[in-house]
Amino acid sequence: MRPAIRDHRRDPRDDLISHLISRGCTAAEILGECLGGGAASAAALSFGGGPHRCPGAGIAILETDVLPSRLFAIDGVRTAPPRVTFNNDIGGYEIRGLRISLA
Ligand code: HEM
Repeated sequence: MRPAIRDHRRDPRDDLISHLISRGCTAAEILGECLGGGAASAAALSFGGGPHRCPGAGIAILETDVLPSRLFAIDGVRTAPPRVTFNNDIGGYEIRGLRISLA
């Protein structure tokens, strides 16, 4: 994720990562946002709706934020640049190939 964020800082694009950088978000916040479905609209789709809407949505979103924040705070944790694409069907971002290693 960090190399992808560096690329976006050098070469801003019309996408979520560049938008979050312009808002001053940290790398962990950007990853959490991407992994969490990318946008509130996508999160809404992920957790259903109506009377049976997922009651665990808040916990799930918190977990998605806490895990990468804690993980990337560990010394020596490295990532390879992931592939970030926009999925029109869900109106959200997808991350593929996010490899995490410990140096
Ligand atoms: C990323 C994580 C999660 C996703 C994507 C997810 C997604 C969903 C979806 C799509 C539904 C069906 C909603 C509907 O029918 O409209 C659902 C229902 C439910 N979820 Fe989750 N969920 C997640 C995490 C959790 C967690 C952490 C809990 C509990 C701590 C939880 C508890 C429930 C329960 C009890 C229901 C049934 C609600 C009902 O039938 O009234 N979920 N979830």
